[in-house]
Amino acid sequence: MPWSSAVADDALRRYLRQQAELGGAEVILPRPLAPREAGRALVVAPARPVAPAGSAGAPAPVAQAGAPAPRGDRRLEFAPGAAPAQPEAPAAATGAPKARWRDGAPPIPGPGLTITTPAPDLLAADAIGALPTLDAVAARVAGCRACGLCEGRTQSVPGEGNPTARLMLVGEGPGATEDQTGRPFVGQAGQLLDRILESIECPRETVFIANIVKCRPPQNRKPLPDEMQACLPFLRRQIALVRPTVLLALGSTAAEGLLGVKKSLGELRLKVHRYDGIPLVVTYHPAALLRNPNWKKPTWDDVRIARQLLDG
Ligand code: URA
Ligand code: URA
Repeated sequence: MPWSSAVADDALRRYLRQQAELGGAEVILPRPLAPREAGRALVVAPARPVAPAGSAGAPAPVAQAGAPAPRGDRRLEFAPGAAPAQPEAPAAATGAPKARWRDGAPPIPGPGLTITTPAPDLLAADAIGALPTLDAVAARVAGCRACGLCEGRTQSVPGEGNPTARLMLVGEGPGATEDQTGRPFVGQAGQLLDRILESIECPRETVFIANIVKCRPPQNRKPLPDEMQACLPFLRRQIALVRPTVLLALGSTAAEGLLGVKKSLGELRLKVHRYDGIPLVVTYHPAALLRNPNWKKPTWDDVRIARQLLDG
């Protein structure tokens, strides 16, 4: 049954509102869609399950005409210029519907740095490197007093997610909302991150998210080298326990902590580094994207590189 143009208009409006929320100044629709045209270009996807806690403001689901009505868990991506325009071949003709993130995804870049982490001191009775589970790591973090950041914390933020995640994200450190809730990336930057993850079909609940430091630095300042060094054994243990297929470093502090080098994002992006053998991609921090929307397009490229690496 054809979708009415009223329904399509509504979908288009919600789509545009979602784009605006995402800093949509740079969102480019190929041209204004006449209602009749919009009726061909857009259909409304079925209602989605409730978003996980912390991902407020779920964007309106929109799918393309020609696709079967239920599109599973797909959600409209928000890459600049990725407005729904090209009708896809019906899934029946092509097998599984082609994920939209693949359209125009950059090729996987060449190798970058190769990092081998120091072997943990497993002989020490309290070795972080010997903690048996992610919960045990979190419990140890909660009582940690290895650096001054513990003085100011409301709650530590050890990280959370799928213990067998194939994609693991690393940020800088908790902000105010994270310090209050004990959960990573639940503030404004976290909501943007949720959408980025949706757009590459790796919803938040499928990944593991951690930070370089587990306690909030005062005034959200960058963690000091001593603080990073004090906290890194926890992240190393988390990575060893999750053993993800791909690591994604969000921002230069995450890259510095993981790779042990102080370099600009310009030098670190668009390479596939290796962290204990695990491919590691570096991109902008979502909070930086909120300040500078020009970095959204390069971020979109980076996350699609990481996404392709997941496929092996
Ligand atoms: N798409 C965007 O437009 N920006 C991002 O940061 C990620 C995906
Ligand atoms: N920024 C980060 O780097 N980490 C968080 O957990 C939240 C915001």
